[in-house]
Amino acid sequence: MSLLPYPLLRPFLFRLDAEAAHELTLAQLERIQHTPLLALAAQPRIDDPLTLAGLRFPNRVGLAAGLDKNARCIDAWGALGFGFVEVGTVTPLAQAGNPKPRIFRLPQSRALINRLGFNNEGLAAFVANVRRSRLRAQGSSAASTASSCATASAQGTAPALVLGLNIGKNAATPIERASDDYLTALEAVYPYADYVAVNISSPNTQNLRALQSDAALEQLLATLAERRAELSAASGVRRPLLIKIAPDLDAEQIEAIAAALLRHGMDGVIATNTTLGRSAVQGQPHADEAGGLSGAPLLQASNAVVRALRQRLGPNFPIIGVGGVQSGADAQSKLEAGADLVQLYTGLIYRGPALVPEVARALASLPHPAPAR
Ligand SMILES: Cc1cc2nc3c(=O)[nH]c(=O)nc-3n(C[C@H](O)[C@H](O)[C@H](O)COP(=O)(O)O)c2cc1C
Repeated sequence: MSLLPYPLLRPFLFRLDAEAAHELTLAQLERIQHTPLLALAAQPRIDDPLTLAGLRFPNRVGLAAGLDKNARCIDAWGALGFGFVEVGTVTPLAQAGNPKPRIFRLPQSRALINRLGFNNEGLAAFVANVRRSRLRAQGSSAASTASSCATASAQGTAPALVLGLNIGKNAATPIERASDDYLTALEAVYPYADYVAVNISSPNTQNLRALQSDAALEQLLATLAERRAELSAASGVRRPLLIKIAPDLDAEQIEAIAAALLRHGMDGVIATNTTLGRSAVQGQPHADEAGGLSGAPLLQASNAVVRALRQRLGPNFPIIGVGGVQSGADAQSKLEAGADLVQLYTGLIYRGPALVPEVARALASLPHPAPAR
């Protein structure tokens, strides 16, 4: 168990503005991550290996995108026991995001509303941070592929965690030019990613979610697939591409997305981002703030999308389930809905780092999916 008692820290953090608490926590993690002090925060990494999309995940719990947008604390996340870590969303150019305040707590529902709007330091700073991480500096980014991890296990060393790099578009780029931003970002992160997550589902960048619909999705996925083929031929390494989608989709839209993912040879889907829905939090302070709602009220809606995707994508297509996981049982419900792996964000704010091994243990008790995944 971590020596940092989150139940004691939480009241102090919750007295601060939500974004200030977030910044303070990241700054402390960044400060200690390459020092012996990291041992104070360290937790066991539960051993529950799974090979998916050609990558060997040491366990089935990951950090969701958005908590570490600039990839500042990769090694600290590793020490908390995650099996995989997704950093970003990064956009080609640095941008400030929306005016503050832009993150709100809804403690009654263990939820957050955010409208950050991809505030981040841009690709150059992001890639520099990724390269500085011990995870990447230690060896090639292929360190977590199935074969090299198998070697690591045979030698008795723990397999490295899997690193996902999540990319998006700048707010100032017109939506018709969105693929230019995604291609720029894909090229820059490709050499350092174990997988690349393509975020087309943030509600806080105007029209971004329109990329999930027919013609726009076709064009974006075709463009990404083509550039990935070129990058893969040039480097000799084929990086998995995963698409991150919203929970606010009807059955027909999910069907169309699933068909497009298969048609364009995508390697997985991340479901879901935050919701625009407010029915579960109506009447609570901050419930009417603009932005995306995350946390406990998202669990069922997000699971429903996972279930629908699994039905349409068949048993072997990789699905990462995210949205509302705040206990081992919540995480198990995602796997029962059809996810292979889960990610956490808002649960960490309410439950603290102990949630990571708790979820990893709960999932380790469930059977693994068919080996073909
Ligand atoms: C403050 C905040 C910022 C987020 N930023 C991003 C982001 O930059 N990119 C992204 O793909 N998802 C982002 N997300 C969405 C999360 O990755 C996740 O999909 C969502 O919060 C649902 O999971 P949760 O209920 O465990 O928080 C953000 C979520 C929050 C709460």
